[in-house]
Amino acid sequence: MSSLDEKRVKDILKKVKDPTLEQDIVSYRIYKSCEVRDGDVAVRVALPTHAYPAAARDELAARIKKALDKKGAKSVTVQAEVETAWVPPPSDKMTLRGPKNVIAVAAGKGGVGKSTVATNLALSLRRHGARVGLLDADVFGPSLPTMLGPPQSPAGTTPAQKIVPAVHYGLSVISVGFFVDKGEAVVWRGPMVHRLLQQFLQDVEWGDLDYLICDLPPGTGDVQLSLSQLIPIAGAVMVTTPQEVSIIDVVKGISMFEKVEIPILGVVENMAYYTCPACGHQDEIFSRGGGKRLAKETGVDFLGEIPIDSRIRFGGDSGMPVVEALPDSVHARTFADIASKAALKIASNILSKPKRSPRLAIIR
Ligand SMILES: Nc1ncnc2c1ncn2[C@@H]1O[C@H](COP(=O)(O)OP(=O)(O)OP(=O)(O)O)[C@@H](O)[C@H]1O
Ligand SMILES: [Mg+2]
Repeated sequence: MSSLDEKRVKDILKKVKDPTLEQDIVSYRIYKSCEVRDGDVAVRVALPTHAYPAAARDELAARIKKALDKKGAKSVTVQAEVETAWVPPPSDKMTLRGPKNVIAVAAGKGGVGKSTVATNLALSLRRHGARVGLLDADVFGPSLPTMLGPPQSPAGTTPAQKIVPAVHYGLSVISVGFFVDKGEAVVWRGPMVHRLLQQFLQDVEWGDLDYLICDLPPGTGDVQLSLSQLIPIAGAVMVTTPQEVSIIDVVKGISMFEKVEIPILGVVENMAYYTCPACGHQDEIFSRGGGKRLAKETGVDFLGEIPIDSRIRFGGDSGMPVVEALPDSVHARTFADIASKAALKIASNILSKPKRSPRLAIIR
């Protein structure tokens, strides 16, 4: 007769660490419940993101089984489901209906690949199984309409004058580019930008989303400030190219986000190197490793490096991002990995803190 019961199982599992978060699964709320019958144990776990890597799922189940086997379980089954970690917004921030976690994609400089990373990150999270939206917050130079090509369904409005996002590759997408003519310059001052963003955030029917990715304009200006005032941002992904001039500006960006208490999820080094398709020689056009060094020096995570590749540029220009065009390519795998790391960082930031009282939660 086994001495295992639910309380004992929970106590045993307090010693099991989650393989991705490296913290115990009970205090990190990965463990949900269990049923014990004559030594047969069924454990329910909640993974904090759809982007939880498959290998880590297997490892988590193996760790749980091993811990319970040692304590005399006859059989152990582990049932995993996904409950996206998120924190209901505090009452001083405008309620954003629908999205659970907002991820800003930012850089100090223009042209380093923010929109490319934002788009492929959003698509990778969706391919992991999450519900994802993409907000083109670059109101002065919206690139997402070009990068995503024709929509599956266009943006529109409801009879109640709410904005319905366009759908591209299963993503809910909003861009100022949907509402102004291509080639028309947007000349707005700070307060107008603030009002526009407010409307995009408040009046868009996003629907239930696990993640809303915001593609930001370069630098540390009105848009960044307005966004941080309007909504709780789960974290920022900083994009840089490897060379010094880009790194210096990203450091400024990191410092700005820290001032407005937005966690940095990590750094992506874009255009890290070029591999000649004819001879295979790797050339480090903008040098290499700057992003990694920056991450080390500023104490933020390094999420990954993406090479310069004409297929990535072509994906952006042709409206078929590389993650969709070449889902089995090394680039798609790199973006999938970056997406996992960013999502896990959000989960870790949230789960390391005690759960907020439900009374304080805003009903979505
Ligand atoms: N890794 C890459 N390999 C090849 N081309 C790339 C890569 N990353 C981005 N590009 C290309 O570089 C150009 C600039 O990229 P992107 O628009 O993503 O930068 P950005 O930082 O968003 O620019 P902006 O500051 O103007 O918003 C685009 O044509 C894009 O397709
Ligand atoms: Mg851009």
